Amino acid sequence: MIPVNEPLMAKNTLKYVTDCIKTNWISSAGKYITTFEENFARFLGTKHAVTTTSGTTALHLALESLGIGPEDEVIVPDLTMIAVPYAVLYTGAKPVFIDVDPDIFNINPEKVREFLESQCEYNPKSKKTINKNTGRFVKAILPVHLYGHCCPMDDVSAIAEEFNLFIVEDAAEAHGALYYSQKNKGEAFYAGTMGDAGCFSFYANKIITTGEGGMMVTENDSIADKARRLKDLAHSTEKRFLHTELAFNYRMTNLQAAVGVSMLEEIDRFIGIKRKMAAAYDERLQDVEGLRLPEEKHWAKNVYWMYAVVVEEAFGKPRDMLMAALKEEGIDTRSFFIPAHRQFVFLRDWESFDQNFPVSNGLSEKGFYLPSGLALTEEQIDTVCAAVKKIRSKT
Ligand SMILES: Cc1ncc(COP(=O)(O)O)c(C=O)c1O
Repeated sequence: MIPVNEPLMAKNTLKYVTDCIKTNWISSAGKYITTFEENFARFLGTKHAVTTTSGTTALHLALESLGIGPEDEVIVPDLTMIAVPYAVLYTGAKPVFIDVDPDIFNINPEKVREFLESQCEYNPKSKKTINKNTGRFVKAILPVHLYGHCCPMDDVSAIAEEFNLFIVEDAAEAHGALYYSQKNKGEAFYAGTMGDAGCFSFYANKIITTGEGGMMVTENDSIADKARRLKDLAHSTEKRFLHTELAFNYRMTNLQAAVGVSMLEEIDRFIGIKRKMAAAYDERLQDVEGLRLPEEKHWAKNVYWMYAVVVEEAFGKPRDMLMAALKEEGIDTRSFFIPAHRQFVFLRDWESFDQNFPVSNGLSEKGFYLPSGLALTEEQIDTVCAAVKKIRSKT
């Protein structure tokens, strides 16, 4: 079976992990934690990087550190990984789902604006935006850079500025992806560095991994301080075993950080592998009618975390049939996410507002990704593309 993802270890992974074990530094203190945070911040050009136990906890930590709470709402894309709305719910706030862009699958800024202008009111005195239907404050927008392609951040930032919203970027799938800001004469910014906080996942299928793990980055000293306090049970600095507020244990281990340090040393190589994989798929699949290939907008550098395709009507077979036929050929694939508004925790009466998400619903039914792991070989790409073509040609 050609797996949908298979990670590659870095040259120094075993050496650094062995060092942790030989020196007994296996828990959440140790030199690799500091080194990983410092090197990650340096790679992105941010001031602070705070390790966490996962991408999910990085998102929760970021929202808590910004003071998001039960009276608030956070704008999120409807087509996303469940950790995004979950993290909002953990704070007691309510996620507001917004439909996505058909080309790059990310949150659609026009739809965000439509929501804010039609249902919310900005009070210039208090500098707060209130949702007139729910009475809650709209506090933040959480753009997710899905499958390795950046959101149009100039548009997101303009809206956030106008309505005084925090921006928490989810760059779990977009390590090293770039956004060329038109507002800043084409200057390049890394995904995760354009908001108040940026969050990353280091799960095994991510561009760099620590097995499980995450990172929150920020330019802001007080957000970073609060995040460091909250991720470590809010220990008092004055008295041992006194804790200053309700907090969490979101500490990464030195062992995981050791893996992270080794991976980060090779991040540019890993991104190069992903882009080469995408170019190989593009070349072989460009003439397959009805198969929409992933885009790279002129204002973005896509890191192709996954090679995400959409099966249009002209393909002649539905997505699920293609995925099943590929499985029979020994090729594993994954469908796109199920829209957040259709998930169990939000079920209530979703059918009544299902029509608000035509793009997200459509992509969820037609989109899937091909094997995209760092260990994927050129021969395997040949096999996958030949199988797609063979399946299409069969009546
Ligand atoms: C877009 C997105 N956000 C958040 C997460 C959550 O990260 P983790 O699995 O490390 O908790 C993922 C995870 O896989 C993701 O793809």
